[in-house]
Formats: sequence, structure tokens, C-alpha cells
Amino acid sequence: MGAGVLTATSPPFARRGGLLHCGAYSLENLAQQYQTPLYVYNGDRILERKRALEEAFAGLKASLRPLVAYSVKANPNLAVLDLLARAGAGADIVSGGELFRALRAGIPADRIVFAGVGKSRDELRYGIEAGIMSFHVESAQELEALGALAAEMGAVAPVAVRVNPDVQSFTHEFTSTGHAAAKFGVSPGEAHEMYRRVAAHPALCAVGVDVHIGSQIRDPAPFLRALDVVLQVEERARRELGIELDYVDLGGGFGISDGAGEALDIRALGREVAARLEGRGLALILEPGRFLVGDAGVLVTLILYVKKSGEKTFVVTDAGMTELIRPSHYGGVHSVSPVRENGRDPVERVDIVGPVCEQGDFLARDRLLPLPPPGALLCVHQAGAYGFTMASNYNSRLRPAEVLVHGEHVTLARRRERYDDLIRGETDD
Ligand code: LLP
Repeated sequence: MGAGVLTATSPPFARRGGLLHCGAYSLENLAQQYQTPLYVYNGDRILERKRALEEAFAGLKASLRPLVAYSVKANPNLAVLDLLARAGAGADIVSGGELFRALRAGIPADRIVFAGVGKSRDELRYGIEAGIMSFHVESAQELEALGALAAEMGAVAPVAVRVNPDVQSFTHEFTSTGHAAAKFGVSPGEAHEMYRRVAAHPALCAVGVDVHIGSQIRDPAPFLRALDVVLQVEERARRELGIELDYVDLGGGFGISDGAGEALDIRALGREVAARLEGRGLALILEPGRFLVGDAGVLVTLILYVKKSGEKTFVVTDAGMTELIRPSHYGGVHSVSPVRENGRDPVERVDIVGPVCEQGDFLARDRLLPLPPPGALLCVHQAGAYGFTMASNYNSRLRPAEVLVHGEHVTLARRRERYDDLIRGETDD
């Protein structure tokens, strides 16, 4: 397929006869079979998004085409990882646990990059033993620890320094990581000194340069500013230290369309990045999380009660912040719609709240919605990323099931928890 030609896309959750479906399956039937709350993922959509991302960057020379290193933290379910592994994805990980999952799903170690400001000695060792592609090192002390450990193990550890480019990305404060006051990465000057150290260290080897500026970013400009900064770091390392890096990693954070705004123009970003990398001989790594899985997942929840209180109408659902923390924690705005629309339900302005004993427990606020009666289902969209993985057992609630629809098949990707699961590790059995 030629540059700039995007594969035709179909909506991941389409309405047929008023009823929302994931592929061939109605969300109503899935909810009946697996109970609510329920996460439903559309595997075909995930693969479609991977292709769309690759096509957006198709302007790069074939040998420099991006490695899509899926950011496992967005949705680490094995069934999702397995799907992406089969499609040739690598992984961006931030813990030993994510390394375990990625390897378990069959993602080759030499396509795994390891970020994070606080990798423990055990995690560094695990990465070296597994033979991962590189460590995205975030401080001079981490570099020393990695070098000492690799030397002790008789290994050479591959390194990319994570640069903090000091750009503002205008996303939520908690998900903006590329400005000078953020804990992530090191300044360009310090990065240079770290490359000098790598060049002199027998157990370290410089393979790339890395940046990640935040999440759910809708504007290409900050990515390009960050890329310019890391390319300067790369040039200086080559000129002054004679270091030839293999790749530049632009991180993730590519914004998707949600209840608060439009998606990032990924094709515009792809064109600009390709133009900047032209002739440099650097491969590109991308670390998308939400871009691949965000709108491929929904949370299906049952309306328990509708409660009027003064001016307000509260729709009390069986899912809340324990299932999806994004609205209360990041001000995330997810589109919400009834699973079954009949054109007769009155449109009302409502707050959709969960059963958790916290005033901050809500899924949506001030939302105009055709309101079905208690017993009906609501669908919370764009919940495939940072949904289940941030779910908790607070209030001793059971974490929900996850199902994956792929082609004609539906797989129970994680069963709903049972009461016994709650006390596992607290009793002798
Ligand atoms: N690479 C690194 C080094 C990261 O830290 C992250 C996300 C990504 C890639 C993937 O970012 P994405 O493409 O998914 O935006 N829980 C928050 C988002 C936290 C993002 C953390 N790092 C939320 O629900 O909005």
C-alpha cells in the first residue's frame, strides 16, 4: 500500500438495529454471558490501528520503517499482547512484570525496550538475562548500576538515554512527562555526558536515543520539537564521541478522539517525522499504547438505579472508579451511550456514578444522554487503554472479566474475579 493511503476503517463498536455490537457479537449478549461490569476488546480494531500507524510513517525508507513497540502498560492482557506479538509488534515495558508478560506472549526479547525511572537491580538483571533490545536509562546513577551489573554478569548492556526535551505537551498534568519539572529523562547536556560514560564503559553499549513527552497529545508540534532535541543529542554524540546510534525512539502519547476532543493527525506527524529523519540512517521506534487499544475497548455497565437529588440526576451503575479510574483521576472524558437505543428514551442531563464510597467516584458528569431505565446497559467508550489495568479491589470489589472479540471468535481473556480471589495471599490456602 502506498504512502498516505490509509486502510478503510470500520467503527470498532457499531450499532445494528439500535444495538451496539463488537464484530458479530451484541454487547447485550456478551454482558448476559459474562456479567457486568465487563470489558470488551475488538481485536480486529487493534490490528487495524497498528496498520494505520505503520502507514502513517510509510514515508520512511523500508529499512527505517518504525518498530511498533506496544506500550504494555496501556493494556497488558495476554490475549492483547498475543495478538500484537503475532502481528510483529515489539514492546515498551516499565517493570519486570511487564517483561514477564511480553516474553510470555511471545514478543521477541530483541524487540523489547525497558523504560522507567526506578528499575530495580532485579529488574535490570532480568532484562540483561532476557537479552532485551535496550534499556532506556533515565539517570546517571541508573547507568552506573546497569554498567556494574552487566560487568558482573559478563554481559554488555544496550543503552538508549531518555532525554527530557523540556517541551510542554498540553495534556493533563499527570500525563505530561517531557517538561523540565517532570521526573522523567535527563537534560540534553546530561544525556551527552552519559553517552561519554557509555563509550568508555566496557559493559555498556550505546544503541539509541529515547524521548517520551506524555499521553493523549492531540497536536503534532510538541512531538516534532522533542524529535529536534533528541536529533541534536544524537548528532553531538556522533560528532564529539564518535558514537553511531541505531535508532531514535519517539515514545508514545498519540492522542485519540474521545469525549473531550479530536485525535492527533497521525499522518501529518508521520510525514514530518519522515522528513526529519531523511538521510540520517536512524531507525525509528514508536511506543503507542492508547493509539492501538484505546478505542478498541469498551466498558459495559448495568444501570442499577436512577436517583434524583435536588437539581441533579444520578445514574448509579455497577461500574465506577474501581473499574475505570480515568474520569476521577485524570479528568478523562469517555463517550457514553446506551447499549440499546430505541429512540424513545428521554434525553436527560445526568451524572453517571459508581457504587464506591467516594464522592469522586464517577464515570461521567453533566452528560446529555437518552436515558434507559434501570436494568439496561450503558457503554463507556475509549476504555481499552488504562482501563482494566488500573482497576482495583478497593471496597473489596471484584475486578471484572475481559473478553476479546477477534474475527468470528470471542475469547474470555480474563475471568471475572470471585470472592476467594480477594483473600488470596491473606489465608494459608
Ligand atoms: N512510552 C512511555 C515511556 C510511557 O511512559 C507511556 C505511557 C507510553 C509510551 C504510552 O503512552 P500512550 O501512547 O498510551 O499515551 N494512565 C494515563 C496515561 C499514563 C501514560 C503513562 N505512560 C491515562 O489513563 O491517561
